[in-house]
Amino acid sequence: MHTDWSLFFGSFHPLIVHIPIGILLFAALLGGVARYKRNRVLQSAISIALFTGSLGAALAAVSGYFLSAGGGYDVDTLFWHKWTGIAAAVLGFVAWWIRRNKKRDIVFLKTGLSVWLLSLCILFIIVGGHYGGTMTHGENYLTAHMPAFLRSVFHVTPRAQPQPLPAQLDSVRVFAHIIQPILSAKCVGCHNPGKEQGDLALNSPEAIMKGGKSGNTLVPGDITKSELVYRVSLDPDNTKFMPPNNRTPLTSMEAGLLKWWVASGADFTKNIAESKVDEKTKYVLAFYLGFDEENDKKIILPEAAPADPNVVKQLREMKLVVRTLTAQSNLLDISFVMMRQSSPQQKRAALQLLLSVKEQVYRLDVSNCMLTGEEIKMIADLPNLNKLELQKNDLTDESLDPLKALQQLTSLNLGQNDITAKSIAVFQQMTALQKINLWQTRFTEEDVRQLQDTMKGIVVVSGE
Ligand code: HEC
Repeated sequence: MHTDWSLFFGSFHPLIVHIPIGILLFAALLGGVARYKRNRVLQSAISIALFTGSLGAALAAVSGYFLSAGGGYDVDTLFWHKWTGIAAAVLGFVAWWIRRNKKRDIVFLKTGLSVWLLSLCILFIIVGGHYGGTMTHGENYLTAHMPAFLRSVFHVTPRAQPQPLPAQLDSVRVFAHIIQPILSAKCVGCHNPGKEQGDLALNSPEAIMKGGKSGNTLVPGDITKSELVYRVSLDPDNTKFMPPNNRTPLTSMEAGLLKWWVASGADFTKNIAESKVDEKTKYVLAFYLGFDEENDKKIILPEAAPADPNVVKQLREMKLVVRTLTAQSNLLDISFVMMRQSSPQQKRAALQLLLSVKEQVYRLDVSNCMLTGEEIKMIADLPNLNKLELQKNDLTDESLDPLKALQQLTSLNLGQNDITAKSIAVFQQMTALQKINLWQTRFTEEDVRQLQDTMKGIVVVSGE
């Protein structure tokens, strides 16, 4: 049953399934109107709607069956979704069939019965739809954004609210701001006091420390013994992999952060400043949390007049990606990602045009563009440039020299260029510089240390 065709048809299930819902609800609406308005046309419209709606429901059921053959769904939820769906289709047909039989003497009984069947059918659609929602959007999808007053009416326990991030990266609490939100999003649905799968709840520090049936759920400082790390590091096909049943797994970054947290002692209260964090991890953390490179969320952007819309239009026509930095600011974020294959002349023309909005260019990504010293000279003419991505070009120490004019530049990516410690002299003249990426350049560890000595506080990303 796993042929391409059946799975292909199955993949239309989410589309097909919504059509009969609309038609059957419409049939019910017409049925309601018909109680007040005796009209033959209306009666036949009801029959048509009932028939097509039920036919659609049957198609939805078949496509759903094919889709489910692909596997990966929670067995119980699938069971109820499937059978409520089939029941809705059957009830719809029966309701139609009874109406169709027009023997006068029992017609009243029949319409009455048909109304009941249709009502039941719609009830099944609602219940089945809810299970469908659960399968695609996860448990608690209905209550996730429920306003507080409704929560109290329905006695829904509030989700652990994600705590707002502090303005400084250093003040971010590792467990409360990073680890707990990961567990809440991807694990707590099955590991909570109401549903302790594997005898394990992951909703609070106490519950995590208490652990589950294995007895070594969390072994602070030891990632090889901690079941918590082991289960998310397995191959996703492994039956012990967490989360199971094709639930959205942790991203590699999330898994990495969980590992790092356990390895560094699984502390529940420390912030980043208090934890052992090397520069690389800090970079990952800043990236993961969406902090600006300066590790300060409250950056004050320079003022700039709006860029000439004609120039922006032309730039876009040249296939540059042009974005304004924020809704309030006129500063531009420019990327050459779509122009990488263009000819050197075209790239140079684009840079030339960029110079006519030079006040506005705040970020520029020209990575992987085969740029040489000529283009670097043009880029060095962008006075407000704050962030520059130059990785993977054909740059040498000499070609970098013009960049020293960039006095507003805070972040410079020079990875995968053939540059050496000689460039330090250029970096030193860029007074605003806070972060340099030198990944896969000819900088040795010794060179990096020298750079950090000469430029105090600079963040350097390096390595093979
Ligand atoms: C769909 C439900 C579900 C989700 C989501 C889920 N788990 Fe589980 N988990 C289970 C079940 C069922 C068991 C028990 C069976 C087993 O041990 O494999 C279990 C067992 C475990 C255990 C073993 C308990 C012990 O003895 O220490 C750990 C650890 C675990 N889960 C971690 C996680 C983590 C971490 C996540 C989130 C990334 C997660 N689980 C998400 C269902 C789930």
